Amino acid sequence: MLKQLTIAASLALGLSLSGGPVAAAETAHIEDVDFSFEGPFGKFDQNQLQRGLQVYTEICSACHGLQFVPLRSLGDPGGPQLPEDQVRAYAEFWEVWDPELLDGEGDFRTATPTDHFPKSGLSNAPDLSLMAKARAGFHGPYGTGINQFFKGMGGPEYITNILTSYTGEEKEQAGAIFYENTAFPGGWIAMSPPLYGDDVDYADGTSTAQHQIAEDVSAFLMWTAEPKMMARKQAGFVGVLMLIILTALLYLTNKRIWAPVKSSRRGDVPAE
Ligand code: HEC
Repeated sequence: MLKQLTIAASLALGLSLSGGPVAAAETAHIEDVDFSFEGPFGKFDQNQLQRGLQVYTEICSACHGLQFVPLRSLGDPGGPQLPEDQVRAYAEFWEVWDPELLDGEGDFRTATPTDHFPKSGLSNAPDLSLMAKARAGFHGPYGTGINQFFKGMGGPEYITNILTSYTGEEKEQAGAIFYENTAFPGGWIAMSPPLYGDDVDYADGTSTAQHQIAEDVSAFLMWTAEPKMMARKQAGFVGVLMLIILTALLYLTNKRIWAPVKSSRRGDVPAE
């Protein structure tokens, strides 16, 4: 917020911003992606969510957790909607820490659908549960947020772009390796490139090009961040429909109430 204000203020004053992290954030470029869930009637694509779950499981989960997502929600309508037996089988893939085992000492055990996905395995890899809503792909121009009005917040676009915008350059700084990434604010990210293309095998024959895999996992992360998006849009639509009907009824009622007054000649005392 402060950053946006600073940018707006500097532009208003005609100051040029050169160098520094603010300028770098402004140059980070995010390409728009046409996701199925965009717009007032957009819906999650169930097959895409299932592919994204596969990508997360086989690649991202090595470092990133999804600790706010219950495993059972994989069976919920509107999501990947796995059948119940598959949800149970999938849950068994994970080990979770149970503090009640071994007389309160705690131990790992096989997960069940009532558990959540585990936490991040790598301490500096952020949890991805809410990442699609925690980041914005689109800003401005000039801090007015007009791009967000047309293209949305761009959280899933941001994730897709992060995964596909590595330049191949690396540098070592303070003992850590950073990778150049044109979508990341500042231009250098600590995550090594996780996707190269053909990183997974899709059972449904969908292309495994880098961009497709990146889009699939981004769509899946949009679902983890907002699992009830479809229900929300539907409720909003019903609400607007009811308001339109109410408006029509009120208009007709208003006409009817004033009809005797309006039809009488000027100066006449209205009947009744
Ligand atoms: C080898 C470990 C590793 C793997 C595998 C990995 N990441 Fe990361 N990821 C990281 C680390 C470390 C960071 C923190 C980078 C930073 O802050 O500079 C990160 C950061 C991120 C961010 C946040 C960027 C931001 O704006 O802060 C996103 C989104 C992300 N990863 C998505 C993914 C996705 C999706 C996958 C799977 C396709 C994946 N990562 C696989 C280690 C990994």
